[in-house]
Amino acid sequence: MKNVNFIYPNGTHALKNISLNVDKGEFLAIMGQNGAGKTTLIRTLNGLLRPSKGVIYIEGEDISLKTVATLSKRVGIIFQNPMHQLFSNTIEDELKFSLKNLGLNKEEITVNINTFLEKFNLSKYRDRSPLNLSGGESKKLAIASIICRDPRILVFDEPTLGQDAKEIKFFIDLINHELTKNKTIVVVTHNVEFTIEYVPRTVLMAQGKIIADGPTKDVLSNEILLKESSLIMPQVYQLKNELKNIGFDIPEEIYRESDMINFLSSYLKQIKLDEDNN
Ligand SMILES: Nc1ncnc2c1ncn2[C@@H]1O[C@H](COP(=O)(O)OP(=O)(O)OP(=O)(O)O)[C@@H](O)[C@H]1O
Ligand SMILES: [Mg+2]
Repeated sequence: MKNVNFIYPNGTHALKNISLNVDKGEFLAIMGQNGAGKTTLIRTLNGLLRPSKGVIYIEGEDISLKTVATLSKRVGIIFQNPMHQLFSNTIEDELKFSLKNLGLNKEEITVNINTFLEKFNLSKYRDRSPLNLSGGESKKLAIASIICRDPRILVFDEPTLGQDAKEIKFFIDLINHELTKNKTIVVVTHNVEFTIEYVPRTVLMAQGKIIADGPTKDVLSNEILLKESSLIMPQVYQLKNELKNIGFDIPEEIYRESDMINFLSSYLKQIKLDEDNN
């Protein structure tokens, strides 16, 4: 994105001179307070919104003259509210619709539908209306209906919101699988614990601007930036700071929950050993 601006018809200047470069195969998070412009930004990526000023390139091509239909084959966006993108009578039809216009024959479409229903654990609901699914299930269907089209760029708006631990695990496995296929993945989220654990790069937005862009471990440990974005520091950092305050020597490279658990358990084991020896 090069100097992208977007102004809604009511005058809200939602994107202010956004310049952002994302390489093929990258996995990044876009974070920031409510109303920062995150959803607006991702809506410009497949032409649902067109910049008031500035240029967007997808795979090196200026997208300003490309249709939403063309762009959505390359950029799959899974929106915040899955109900806004599900409209078929049954779950099977939802996937059938998604798989249209991709040049697949009838048999291939059937095989694909079955594979994705199975993979997303939705087979038992195939004849059910998307309206009659739980929040988490409808989110999964929304993801399935985009991923089955195999777009090279995947964009998720708030994927972990309202998901239980098992679904978040399913989601992260899915992302890791897509990353092995060299897909580019963008996740919009308020979930700092998710980002610090899994996402290597973080872009922070506030009031329509990018206020930080860098390795997640740097961005999410910066108190001033976090405050500006109404985010709470990841628990690992909070603990790290507390431990430092009381004189502990914590290695700098600890920034994941699992790192901290390993560090603390070997530290405590050593204390126990010393105690037992005395
Ligand atoms: N359809 C619209 N018409 C007018 N203004 C809008 C519209 N949609 C969003 N806005 C405004 O644009 C700004 C950016 O909104 P956007 O939805 O992009 O924020 P966001 O970062 O996704 O927030 P959240 O974290 O709450 O989802 C906000 O001030 C919002 O009120
Ligand atoms: Mg949003």
